[in-house]
Amino acid sequence: MDKKKSEEEVSESQIAVHWKEEDYFKPVPEFTAQANVRDDKIFERFDIKNFPDCYKEYADMLDWYKSYDRILDSSNPPFYKWYVGGKLNACYNCVDRHLPKYKNKTALHFVPEPEDEPIQHMTFQELYVKVNEFAALLRDFCGLKAGDTVTLHMPMIPELPIVMLACARLGVIHSQVFSGFSGKACADRVVDARSKVLITADAYYRGGTLIDHKEKADIAYDEALKEGQKIEKILIWERYPGKYSAKTPLVEGRDFIVNDIIKNYYHRTVEPEQLPADGTLFLMYTSGTTGKPKGAQHSIGGYLAYVTGTSKYIQDLKPEDVYWCMADIGWITGHSYIVYGPLALAASTVIYEGVPTYPDAARPWRVAEELAVNIFHTSPTAIRALRRVGPDLPQKYNFKFKHMTTVGEPIEPEVWRWYYNSVGKKEASIVDTWWQTETGGFLCSTIPGIHNMKPGSAGPAAPGIYPVIFDEEGNPLPKGSGKAGNICIRNPWPGRMLTIWGDDERFVRQYYQRYNKDPKSKNWEDWPYFAGDGAVEAPDGYYRILGRIDDVINVAGHRLGTKELESAALMVVEIGEAAVVPVADPIKGKVPHIFVSLKPGYEANAEIEKKVTNALANEIGPIAKPGKVWIVPDMPKTRSGKIMRRVLSAIANKQDVGDITTLANPQVVEEIQKMS
Ligand code: WT7
Repeated sequence: MDKKKSEEEVSESQIAVHWKEEDYFKPVPEFTAQANVRDDKIFERFDIKNFPDCYKEYADMLDWYKSYDRILDSSNPPFYKWYVGGKLNACYNCVDRHLPKYKNKTALHFVPEPEDEPIQHMTFQELYVKVNEFAALLRDFCGLKAGDTVTLHMPMIPELPIVMLACARLGVIHSQVFSGFSGKACADRVVDARSKVLITADAYYRGGTLIDHKEKADIAYDEALKEGQKIEKILIWERYPGKYSAKTPLVEGRDFIVNDIIKNYYHRTVEPEQLPADGTLFLMYTSGTTGKPKGAQHSIGGYLAYVTGTSKYIQDLKPEDVYWCMADIGWITGHSYIVYGPLALAASTVIYEGVPTYPDAARPWRVAEELAVNIFHTSPTAIRALRRVGPDLPQKYNFKFKHMTTVGEPIEPEVWRWYYNSVGKKEASIVDTWWQTETGGFLCSTIPGIHNMKPGSAGPAAPGIYPVIFDEEGNPLPKGSGKAGNICIRNPWPGRMLTIWGDDERFVRQYYQRYNKDPKSKNWEDWPYFAGDGAVEAPDGYYRILGRIDDVINVAGHRLGTKELESAALMVVEIGEAAVVPVADPIKGKVPHIFVSLKPGYEANAEIEKKVTNALANEIGPIAKPGKVWIVPDMPKTRSGKIMRRVLSAIANKQDVGDITTLANPQVVEEIQKMS
């Protein structure tokens, strides 16, 4: 059987599932007693028979200028309009409406990366003043109005949420590009969004260095121009107001230092625009498996209602909480769960400029102690890094989390247990939240006060979300079947993106074509949302996400999820991180190669290699035996900390590693190449 054929003949439904069901952990009574959701009546209210009216509950958490006429217009699937006819303003909901009660309460805590710089605290009143000044500048200096787009390429500084909220106040559509991305990547997004204004910063701290960021704006300008989009104005925030910290000179008539021109807008206030609920709040570009990055276009009313509702019920946020989502605002996680959700609920939200492990792996715990953070949110990647370098550090600091979140990838049960025992000190409820850039907010998660937690499992669907797992042919796999398939969402929900910016056709093709049987159908029930993730539903209705469908390795016709292999490797005590990639093999089609990095204090040796091989063989089966165990000094990582499996795969397959300039640690690539 040739290789290609064998791959085609094996269907998704045959993805082998080797994970064992883990034991439950119960939320502690202290948490449950104070939780926003204390009983499971919520699932009666959000029962499918109450769909879509159940989503009134989330809209009621917001202030509206004009109430909506209809909850959902689904007459043209899969294009849906939520809260049709309603008018609101996202900035008003995140700032103005809190002033009567909370004006003197902290809205933002900004933690600079250098530890000798003090943490800055900004009240809701101060935030209100700054947002108004900047909105006046956007309107009167840049001439921007509702419906225009603007691209932001800003680092993690407090001015980022200020700019986003100022845009929202005017109805200007913001498109924030992750600051770690290159000038070229920024340009591609400027071109696609047709932005005439770029907002950036001169510099920011990352891993102890003040990085010149303005130089990327110059590249973005040139590259965008080549593609036919002229950036008319570049607005530059200074990391140290009054002191320009970049090397590149300013271009007369194009580049403007915000900290200077903002002075012309001091004391100005701008009335929030009364905007339609189905208007656009922002674009968030995400890369697809193929083709150019796509701009997920998110709505004002549906999005804000959904992130507010899920922040309240799943993040358990209250105004008195100090909440730290240690992610970058340049990702959807930061938009939904650093800025919009928390601020809509008047919580205090923490913005950390730099690297979690800078200057050492106890930094997060010192910040948590100093600010009395009680809700903490981060990714498995960050948790693994902190566990690897400083497994015993959390207990040395006097902080107490009531609640913790993990997001972004499946978390290995072993790592989950460290998070629970060491970081959560066996008191915090953990939610493992599964969702995507496109979905606006959480899709699967336990509700922290009422559900038991299960390590490695995202848990049941969020209120009002009705998932289904289909096999290749479109047959639903019943819960407890033990089989994995493609997870889809049966129904529309308010947080979902409106469309892909400028490409309705791709939107339909990518997310709906897979399981739609009748493209002419006007019934939403015929349009399941295809997430692109493999998943399995346990007998208790908890979903375990196996990762992107393309992360499946086909070894001799046997499909293995990369995550379960990595999880098995992490059971070896010396191992800090693990990444599996498929390598072409003349006999088996593909064999897994596993890259591992060690916890500090351990030296690479043949014994460890053997332990890893045995762990995979024992946990999963001899079929999972890696073709090679690479003990590497460190994993190649993106600036957001995701392991670049693409680079590892190129090395293992002896191919060109491609562009590695966006890596946080490009030098490690060469070191690994030398090992082959
Ligand atoms: C993909 C979406 C959602 C914000 C961050 C990532 C994976 C996300 C989980 C989780 C297992 C997860 C999926 C998804 N993913 N959360 N809790 N467990 N996998 O946003 O860049 O749009 O990535 O991340 O594969 O499709 P994104």
